[in-house]
Amino acid sequence: MSGPAGGAGEEARAQAERERILALRREIREHDRRYYVLDAPTISDAAYDRLVRELRELEARHPEMADPDSPTRRVGGEALPTFSPFPHIAPMLSLQNAMGEEELRAFDRRVRSLAGELPVWYVVEPKIDGLSVALRYHDGAFVQGGTRGDGAVGEDVTENLRRVVGLPLRLRRPVAHLEVRGEVYMPYEAFGRLNEAQVAAGRAPFANPRNAAAGSLRQLDPEVTEGRGLGVWVYEVRALEGEQAPADQAEALSFLEALGFPVVPGWSRADDVEGALAAVRRLGAERDRLPFAIDGAVVKTAPFATQRALGATAKAPRHAIAFKYESEEAVTRVVDIVVQVGRTGAVTPTAVLEPVLLAGTRVARATLHNEDVIRDLDVRIGDRVVVRKAGEVIPEVVRVLAEGRTGEERPFRFPTTCPVCGAPVERPPGQAAHRCTNERCPGRLREGLLHFVARAAMDVEGLGPKILDALLASGRVRTAADLYTLTPDELARLPRMGAKSAANLAAALDASRSRPLSRLLFALGMRHVGERASAALADRFGSVGALAAAGEEELAAVPDVGPATAASVRAWFADPDNLALLDALAAGGVAAADRRAAPPAAAVAAGGPLAGQEVVFTGRLSVPRAQAEAAARRAGAAVADRVTRRTTLVVAGEEAGSKLARARELGVAVWDEPAFWAAVGADRQESSDPPSNPPPS
Ligand code: IVH
Repeated sequence: MSGPAGGAGEEARAQAERERILALRREIREHDRRYYVLDAPTISDAAYDRLVRELRELEARHPEMADPDSPTRRVGGEALPTFSPFPHIAPMLSLQNAMGEEELRAFDRRVRSLAGELPVWYVVEPKIDGLSVALRYHDGAFVQGGTRGDGAVGEDVTENLRRVVGLPLRLRRPVAHLEVRGEVYMPYEAFGRLNEAQVAAGRAPFANPRNAAAGSLRQLDPEVTEGRGLGVWVYEVRALEGEQAPADQAEALSFLEALGFPVVPGWSRADDVEGALAAVRRLGAERDRLPFAIDGAVVKTAPFATQRALGATAKAPRHAIAFKYESEEAVTRVVDIVVQVGRTGAVTPTAVLEPVLLAGTRVARATLHNEDVIRDLDVRIGDRVVVRKAGEVIPEVVRVLAEGRTGEERPFRFPTTCPVCGAPVERPPGQAAHRCTNERCPGRLREGLLHFVARAAMDVEGLGPKILDALLASGRVRTAADLYTLTPDELARLPRMGAKSAANLAAALDASRSRPLSRLLFALGMRHVGERASAALADRFGSVGALAAAGEEELAAVPDVGPATAASVRAWFADPDNLALLDALAAGGVAAADRRAAPPAAAVAAGGPLAGQEVVFTGRLSVPRAQAEAAARRAGAAVADRVTRRTTLVVAGEEAGSKLARARELGVAVWDEPAFWAAVGADRQESSDPPSNPPPS
C-alpha cells in the first residue's frame, strides 16, 4: 500500500472491500453448488482457490464482516437428497493449500512453532483427484460407506462402493471396528471409455476424471457404477477398535496395506521440509506417467501425538497441507490438426480441440510442436487426448487416450507445401521443425508484424490480428516500417474502424516510436534474440549503429548472448534488406532505429565490475527489478531467474525465500542490496545513502 490516502479515500476503499466480500461469498457458494451438487464445475480448482484466498484475506482485514456461514468457514457441498444421509463420526475436513514451495516452508515453520517439543517429520502422499469417502468395517467386513457431503453428513453410497474395483469387502484380519478415509477415482482409461459412451449416447462428456468418478459413484442404480471402472486409494485411519493403534502416518499406511487396502501409491517419509519438497517434486515429475489423475501432493506431519497437539480449524487440520501442482490437465477431442507458419518460417502443427476448460481458461487449440512429437504421441484426428497447461505456456497435448478409439481416427500427414503461400515445405536435416522455403511468405510476414507490435516488443496498443489483416489485405503495409507511414485518415478507412479508434491507434503508433533500443531489438525478431538477449545487447552497445558495427566475438562476449545468437545478429545486419528496414523505421520516426545515433556513455560493460558473473535477484528490492537488472548488465553481469550451478552471485532483497535458500545450499555468494549498489557504482536513483556493507571481494 502506498500513496497518501485521505480518510475519505480510505473509507471508500474499505466500503469497496466489504462489497467485494459479499460478492465473493455469493460467487463461491455458486461454485460450491456446481461442484458438489451438480458435479459440473465451471472453473478450475486453482481459480476457485484464488477466489477463496482473496475472500479469506479480505475477511481478515474486515473482522466486522465475520459470518459463520461464510464459505471460508464451511467445508462446502450439500448432500443430494436421493441417498440416505451418512452422518460422519467426526467432521470430514478438507486441506489447506500451499501455492508454492515458499508456502510449504511457511507451513513447516508454523507446524514447528506449534509443535513445541513434539517430534515433527513428514509423510508425503500424492493428492488423488477423486472424491473422498469414508468406509466402515465391522469384524473385518465392509458394512457401510459414504461420501463427504458437507463434512458433517454425506450420502450413503454403500451399495455403489461395493462395486469399486479393489475395495476390500473383507479384511485380512477381523478387526473389531475400523473406519478409513480414501479417495474414489476413475483411471484415465476408464474415463476415456466412459466419455466415448457418453458422446455416442448423445450425452455431454465429463469435464475430468474427478467429475466422472463423482457422477459414477452417485448413481442410484449400482449396476451403472459397476461398469464404470472406479478405483479407490485409502490414506487415513479415522477410527479403530480392537487393535493397537498406529503411532504415526507411515505406520498407519503400512497397517492399512497389511489389512488388504489399496493404499495411496508412491508415499514416502521425509525428515524435514526440504525432504518433503524433494518428495513433492518427485511426485510432480512422475505425475504424467500415472494411469490416474493427481492434482498435487499432501504433506502430513506424521506423528499422531503431534497431529493431535496441532488440532484443526473449522475447515482443515493444521498438521497437513496440500501442495497443488501448477499445471492442469483436461481431456478433450482433437477435431483437426492444422499447421501454422511462424515468423521464422517454422511450420508448426497445432491440434484444434473441442473447447475445454483448463486452468480457468477455455482452450480450443494445443501445440503439437513438430512431426516427431505427433509420431511419438501417435495422435490422430478424432482422438481423445489429455491437454495440459503449465504456467503461462501454450497448452500442449500430453497423451492420447487410445483405448477409446473407434477406428474412425485419421493419422495426420505433414503437408509438403506451405498452407499460406504454397511454396515447398522442407525439413532441414537434423532439425525437428519444418520450414516454409519462401523468405517472403505472407504468413511469416504477418506473424513477424504481430510480434513487432506485441506488448513485450513495440507495444502498439490496439493493433491486433484483425486490424493487421486488414492492413495487409489493403496492400498498404508490407513491412514494419510501413506502419509508421499510415495516416489517421487511412486508418479510419479500414473496415469497422471508427474515427475515434483510428485516432487511438495513430496515437499508439506514435507512442511506440520512442520505445527503447532493447524493445526494438526484440521486435525485429532476429533468431535467438529473445527479450533477455535484446536487453543485454542494448545495454552493452547502446545504439543500433554500435551493434551493427560489432564483430561476432565481441557479440558473443556479451552476457546472455551465446555464439549462435552472435552469429544470428551478424547475419541479420549483413542482409541489406534489414538495413533498409532500419533506415525506413528511422525515417518513420522510430528513434532507436537510427543507425547514426551515438551510444549513451553508460553502455560500457565488458570490463565492468561484475564482468563474468551470473547474477540472480531475489526478494523485495528497493527499486524496480528491471532497474537492478539493467544495472547488473551494465556492470558486465548476466542476469538469470533461477539459482543454478552456474550462478555466481545472488542479490537478496527483503523477504528473500527459496532462491536464497538454494544459493546457500549451493554455496553461492550472497550480497544484500547495498553491497550490490556499491559494487556497480551506486546508481540507484531512489537513494543517495552511502552504501553500507561493502561487497566481499
Ligand atoms: S488427507 C483431514 N490425503 O484432497 C484431511 N486427502 O483438497 C484429510 N485427497 O478432501 C485429507 N488425496 O478428498 C488426504 N493423500 C491424500 C489425499 C487427499 C486426495 C483429497 C481429499 C481432501 C482433498 C483436499
